[in-house]
Amino acid sequence: MAEFPQLRLRRLRQTESMRALVRETRVQVEQLIYPLFVVEGKGIKKGISSMPGIHHFSPDRLSKEVEEIARLKIPAVILFGIPERKDETGSASCAPKGVVQQAIRVIKKAVPELLVVTDVCLCEYTSHGHCGVIAGTDVDNDRTLPLLAKMALSHVEAGADMVAPSDMMDGRVKAIRETLDAKGFPNIPIMSYAAKYASAFYGPFREAAESTPQFGDRRSYQMDPPNVREALREVEQDINEGADIIMVKPALAYLDVIRKVRDTFNHPLAAYNVSGEYSMLKAAAQKGWLEEQRVVMESLTAIKRAGADIIITYHAKDVAKWLRG
Ligand code: PBG
Repeated sequence: MAEFPQLRLRRLRQTESMRALVRETRVQVEQLIYPLFVVEGKGIKKGISSMPGIHHFSPDRLSKEVEEIARLKIPAVILFGIPERKDETGSASCAPKGVVQQAIRVIKKAVPELLVVTDVCLCEYTSHGHCGVIAGTDVDNDRTLPLLAKMALSHVEAGADMVAPSDMMDGRVKAIRETLDAKGFPNIPIMSYAAKYASAFYGPFREAAESTPQFGDRRSYQMDPPNVREALREVEQDINEGADIIMVKPALAYLDVIRKVRDTFNHPLAAYNVSGEYSMLKAAAQKGWLEEQRVVMESLTAIKRAGADIIITYHAKDVAKWLRG
């Protein structure tokens, strides 16, 4: 084994081409998913104040946006819908002319090859803001399952390519798989938010999606942040129920969880670089405290290095532009 002075690790760091040659991890646009927030109405493209650069779109304003996304070679979007009317059971979530269902049709017409993933969760649709139906003071797991399955089915019937349940009910992947199979959609994959933590980093999203719980919090269904062994059990459960892609969320404060899941399972692994992670970097960049491009690329590289294949990120459009040079 060579030792200093024969061994000099700095030899391979001298130029950018040399560094690129030995680079171990790369962020690639082919594995990014860009979130879109869709609201009911016409002619709406309105900025979300807590998430600079991110907008609410009405379905009719989506074509231009997704054409740009496709031009940037981003392969997929994930849709979040904000309905006009909310009720106890989130019934707008499976309306054939619901906001997400409309959006899917517009996007598939404008750019057929763009993969449309939909978030499956009731919190944007319920008057109380919880991810399922309420019994007493808590979310009723088993009564929520058929509603999630119905919502997923209506997205797929509208043309969605993949569904992503984010509610954290036990048994939801199985319920969705059974429904999709029974209704003639055995080839639609499920990307499950398998290890989703009760995180304060969702703050800006809840403003964007108008989904802040009106009472209590999500700690009886989302995971407790200190736990990593439990994340492996969650992932295992979702895999056994038929998940095709598994997800860890959030990403940056949970890199150890991503690594552990990567080392334990062979399924494709996604990480959600969530709203709070985005807004922190945006705010610091706006103040001139951090160099945006470098901190964003460093963060996404860390998520990849931890073991994620796919990254869901609000930075996707910027990253695609930077990678093109
Ligand atoms: C829906 C959902 C949430 C996010 C994705 N799907 C919010 C939540 O669970 O409160 C968060 C995404 C983000 O913060 O960017 N349940």
